[in-house]
Amino acid sequence: MDSKGKGKATDATSAAAADQDLLPWVEKYRPVTLDDLVSHKDITSTIQNFIDKNRLPHLLFYGPPGTGKTSTILAMARKIYGAQFRNSVLELNASDERGIDVVREQIKSFASTKSVFGAKAGFKLIVLDEADAMTQAAQGALRRVIEQYTKNVRFCIICNYVNKIIPAIQSRCTRFRFNPLEPDQVESRLQHVIESEHCNITPGGKEALLKLSRGDMRRALNVLQACHAASDHIDETAVYNCTGNPHPEDIEAVLKSMMQDEFTTAFNTIVALKTAKGIALADMISGVYDLLASIKLPPKSRIYLLDHLADTEHRLSTGGSEKLQLTALLGAVKIAVELSQA
Ligand SMILES: Nc1ncnc2c1ncn2[C@@H]1O[C@H](COP(=O)(O)OP(=O)(O)O)[C@@H](O)[C@H]1O
Ligand SMILES: [Mg+2]
Repeated sequence: MDSKGKGKATDATSAAAADQDLLPWVEKYRPVTLDDLVSHKDITSTIQNFIDKNRLPHLLFYGPPGTGKTSTILAMARKIYGAQFRNSVLELNASDERGIDVVREQIKSFASTKSVFGAKAGFKLIVLDEADAMTQAAQGALRRVIEQYTKNVRFCIICNYVNKIIPAIQSRCTRFRFNPLEPDQVESRLQHVIESEHCNITPGGKEALLKLSRGDMRRALNVLQACHAASDHIDETAVYNCTGNPHPEDIEAVLKSMMQDEFTTAFNTIVALKTAKGIALADMISGVYDLLASIKLPPKSRIYLLDHLADTEHRLSTGGSEKLQLTALLGAVKIAVELSQA
């Protein structure tokens, strides 16, 4: 990392600053207070209501990555417990612990030690992150642990896929869905980081960044940091280069060929472009997704195409052949075009 923009400092503070410099921005800019959070105010206010009435249930947060699930519960906990935060909150990651027995032991020793409770909070909080990584059996054991300590502990269970959580746990929690962030929400937080880090980014670069992040704030910050490290001037091309994502112009050419050219011509054009630019079909598909929004298509064609894109994406992710999937996708586009002319 460069060190420009740093003034003179004592050894101690420059060492601290260097430490800060090494931090991933997702950590450096993790929201500390509820005010730092740019989204899901409805969820925080609902939970605040529970707390005010002294009726906090167990919580289940679910939704795609980078939408603030972990940040939200930690910011809430900081507000509830203040100086008692450390004694009152246990953060566990279900995916990197050595099994439910370790989790159970940690929970047990945490739950059974008395802490100086905050004035309003007569309970401790256990945050169990990435709970969908737990096996069914481990979840069964967790469910009994939850029951056992319900008197003085509240759980906040966090996962990406709510369907991977067993019904017995789901039914004991109040569920909150975290949707992807709106572009303007991502932008407002991004702007804060851009200013703090003195990033030299063009409006086009920022737009590309917003598009690529698709409501995932972690992704937005990671890409921004990588671009900032790679170049002094971040424009649209720099963003696409840095992520290895195809440039929208290339995707436009692909889509145009798919829709207008005869099957074999389109197939060959796309394969040539894929080879020349080193674009994987999966990345091409996510690019097509982004473009579809700005293309005029009747609803039935759009829905048909979206379904097929999702199918193709799924088959690619489970090891489907690119050639076969491209053929299938091309067929789907042709049908979508026919549907729109019918
Ligand atoms: N709502 C938000 N407001 C501000 N920053 C956010 C928000 N959501 C995510 N972030 C940023 O993205 C990073 C990842 O957020 P995190 O809470 O860990 O997401 P999740 O747990 O949903 O995967 C955080 O460090 C923070 O910098
Ligand atoms: Mg998280």
